Amino acid sequence: MIAVLDFGGQYTHLIARRLRDLHVPVRLYPHDTPASALKDVDGIVFSGGPSSVYAPNAPKPDSAVFDLGKPILGLCYGHQFIANHFGGKVERATREYGERELAVVKKEGVLAGVQSKEKVWYSHGDSVLALPSGFETLAKSGDSFAAYAYVQTGKRIYGLQFHPEVHHTPCGNQVLENFAFIICKVKKTKDTFSKMAMVEQSRTRVGPQNVVIGVSGGVDSTVAAFLLRDAFAKQLFPIYVDTGLMRQNETEEIKAFYSDFPNFVFVDASKEFLTALKGVSEPEQKRKIIGHLFIEVFEKAAQSVPNVGYLAQGTIFSDRVESAATGGKATSKIKSHHNLTLPEKMKWQVLEPLAELYKDEVRALGKQLGVPDAILKRHPFPGPGLAINIVGEVTPDRLKAVRQADFIFIEELRKAGWYDKMFEAFAAILPCRTVGVKGDERSYEYPIVLRAVESKDVMTADWVRLPPELLQTVASRILGEVEGVNRVFYDISQKPPATIRYE
Ligand code: XMP
Repeated sequence: MIAVLDFGGQYTHLIARRLRDLHVPVRLYPHDTPASALKDVDGIVFSGGPSSVYAPNAPKPDSAVFDLGKPILGLCYGHQFIANHFGGKVERATREYGERELAVVKKEGVLAGVQSKEKVWYSHGDSVLALPSGFETLAKSGDSFAAYAYVQTGKRIYGLQFHPEVHHTPCGNQVLENFAFIICKVKKTKDTFSKMAMVEQSRTRVGPQNVVIGVSGGVDSTVAAFLLRDAFAKQLFPIYVDTGLMRQNETEEIKAFYSDFPNFVFVDASKEFLTALKGVSEPEQKRKIIGHLFIEVFEKAAQSVPNVGYLAQGTIFSDRVESAATGGKATSKIKSHHNLTLPEKMKWQVLEPLAELYKDEVRALGKQLGVPDAILKRHPFPGPGLAINIVGEVTPDRLKAVRQADFIFIEELRKAGWYDKMFEAFAAILPCRTVGVKGDERSYEYPIVLRAVESKDVMTADWVRLPPELLQTVASRILGEVEGVNRVFYDISQKPPATIRYE
């Protein structure tokens, strides 16, 4: 296993990701992890970081790490730190950002098998301008030493000023493979990350205490619950709160799905949620009410579980980036639901077994764990549920109408093979009524909006060009089957300026 020590660099997680892609078992550690905790690893990577080695609070590793006899690879800040630590000269020189040419002096060690000139990606202010004694130059970039090796009895240390972990460094994989497989002699794993190691890690961390996890049927919470079930099924208490704002049949499906978890906790709070939302139409207020009530109900349910030590969450890497917690401590918010921080008085520790994984890796892990495709390929469904598909007040009749319309839309998208081709689709209901005619009678009813979008990162979205015949089928069914609705719109707004969801 390779340990990546995190010095706070923006690419630290990418180093782990690249190594996993190469089937190298890897784990991230804080930069000051005691050497004693690293004695069983095969090799150690020092990540990049924003500091200068001369800064007063520059992060430092435990210096005993250098005496472990493990191969070490320093990247960017790591490269500068090692050079400085052994007596080299590091200075603020020409800053280099983006693509640069690397002049390879020796194709050895981490640079075995690369070309004499390689395009590499830089992002640094400081440079190594003189190497410590005993260090060999592997590559240069202008006046600075872009790659070095220090191979002595008991020491195999390499440093790279550039970033092998980014796609813009074409020889990056070769360099990382050299380090992992040739220098550290790591054994390639069958899968890109070891499910067994993740299970083991959670088991060791938790010990004998019980763990609660809020589950919603979403990809991340389900994969986390499956992983933890493999680790300690009897100590795991998945709690599902039915807010009454779930989609058609969803609660029954989730209950059936968790039936082979020994301690599944089901709470029907649908009446409480509907009562709390009565008369409220302002979007932020709706969200707040739902969020607070959810925490309250969840907390109460968790209090009935004995000996709880941990709250597990399906937080994934991108959630941590969004909450600016990269490289920091785990955030304690109920992520898959309402993005609220836990009340101070809850003294549980937070367990986030998926925190280092990217979404596609979570899906791959889910597959290994036997999570059905129906869940792994599900579109996003926000924590506040159908409440934010209803513009204005959540009333029982409008909730029923939007739930049915949404069900019909999704069912037809699946039948026509469109569901898996898009990012997200749903039906919403608007708060106005318009005149229509049904049979021989005048109607005065609500419009339904259909929304289907394409998006890579949720920041921008485009509407899906669905065939008119399919839209016609959906509209006819909704107008025929859903009470209280007499018009169907298809939303062709892009984000920005619109958002994906309605509220
Ligand atoms: P918008 O509507 O802001 O949505 O374009 C962007 C993405 O976020 C989802 N979304 C939420 N997810 N809690 C969540 O976990 C929420 O409160 C929430 N609101 C919107 C939305 O479905 C889309 O994928």
